[in-house]
Amino acid sequence: MSAPEVLIFGAGAVGAFYGSRLAHAGAPVSAVCRSNYAAVKASGFSIASPQFGEYSWTPTRVFPSAAEAVAAGVRWSFIVVTTKALPDVSDDSALLDGLVGPGTAIVLVQNGLGVEEPYRQRFPHAAILSAVTVVSASQPSPGRIDHNRWTRINIGPFLPDVSDGEETHAATAQAREFARLLVAGGVKDASAYSHRKLQQVRWHKIAINASFNPSSVLSNGTSNRAMAEDPELAEHVRGVMDEVLTTAPKVLGAPFPAEFASADSILASTRRNVSGSRPSMWGDWEAGRPMEIEVIIGNPIRLARAKGLEMPRMQTLYALIKMAQANRDALRKSQSRL
Ligand SMILES: NC(=O)c1ccc[n+]([C@@H]2O[C@H](COP(=O)([O-])OP(=O)(O)OC[C@H]3O[C@@H](n4cnc5c(N)ncnc54)[C@H](OP(=O)(O)O)[C@@H]3O)[C@@H](O)[C@H]2O)c1
Ligand SMILES: *[C@@H]1O[C@H](CO)[C@@H](O)[C@H](O)[C@H]1NC(C)=O
Ligand SMILES: *[C@@H]1O[C@H](CO)[C@@H](O)[C@H](O)[C@H]1NC(C)=O
Ligand SMILES: *[C@@H]1O[C@H](CO)[C@@H](O)[C@H](O)[C@H]1NC(C)=O
Repeated sequence: MSAPEVLIFGAGAVGAFYGSRLAHAGAPVSAVCRSNYAAVKASGFSIASPQFGEYSWTPTRVFPSAAEAVAAGVRWSFIVVTTKALPDVSDDSALLDGLVGPGTAIVLVQNGLGVEEPYRQRFPHAAILSAVTVVSASQPSPGRIDHNRWTRINIGPFLPDVSDGEETHAATAQAREFARLLVAGGVKDASAYSHRKLQQVRWHKIAINASFNPSSVLSNGTSNRAMAEDPELAEHVRGVMDEVLTTAPKVLGAPFPAEFASADSILASTRRNVSGSRPSMWGDWEAGRPMEIEVIIGNPIRLARAKGLEMPRMQTLYALIKMAQANRDALRKSQSRL
């Protein structure tokens, strides 16, 4: 059997980091780039990591667009989607038309909830794998990737309609194969989960992101640690986390595994953090980039509503952050017209 062909779709911080580890495992890994295309085409990626040191990675093929990747006619085993999830800006699933063939698994390594749905609707016969990572990485300049810390990634088959027989489903085997490749590439804490457990991980992660991220932006750049230390903001952040953590089990129909951290222990560990870092949503806000508001805040509210459940603290954050973004963008547009 030949090594599986992997395509990283949107090779930014996360895509280039995991792509380089898959390549280290021996898979041919290609990349679809956008703003970093010229730099990556000329000299590949250079990556700095506390775990793996300084290394460079030259993708097997580098494409400037999805259309160019289609033209290459490769039979992809894994298409790894690592664009920002911005359904209010673009439906990236449309760009995969012509790339998804028989046996292709689409791996979504993106934050938030509901990111799988557009892919499932467009490619009803393809395996959809859903992945959550806690990695911290950035791309300070085109082709330069800083891996700051953590590598953990969990991958599960997205099988919302399969109540039994998940074990025998092709997507389950593909999720295991993908995790195995990552482990072979040095990501020791890559592991395959069931559909349900992966969705539980997604909900748990957005409890943290939906509480800290918009609160940082709406309070003009407060660090995670400062939010956890200020009594009123800590009360607010805990309230949002608790709302999500008590709603998720009702939406998913199962309690969270006992090992998942509570709101109090998340706040305690944030207070212990000496670095005082800010959520990445603050960086997007400051840079005038679209924020992942819909998948981190809007979709959780809608998924809960579909089960008759309201999350009023989340709804408040959603209304405020959405309007703040609309005002920011309108101001920038009117300034650029002057
Ligand atoms: N960074 C982290 O530490 C981290 C941790 C956990 C989870 N995540 C999640 O991982 C996902 C990816 O985040 P990231 O930090 O890697 O973002 P990123 O650095 O902005 O990478 C996204 C890449 O996708 C490219 N892209 C977007 N649309 C494209 C298109 N149509 N065609 C080709 N390329 C396209 C972007 O190009 P442009 O430069 O042209 O925009 C960019 O290079 C997000 O959902 C994020 O929330 C990130
Ligand atoms: C928000 O913070 C920035 C610095 O990050 C500062 O320049 C700006 O004046 C602040 N805005 C308000 C409304 O306080
Ligand atoms: C602690 O600080 C680091 C930056 O060094 C950051 O990546 C991480 O998210 C912080 N942890 C918490 C729990 O806020
Ligand atoms: C989500 O939360 C994690 C952990 O606190 C953080 O490292 C990451 O930057 C957040 N993601 C976004 C999109 O802000």
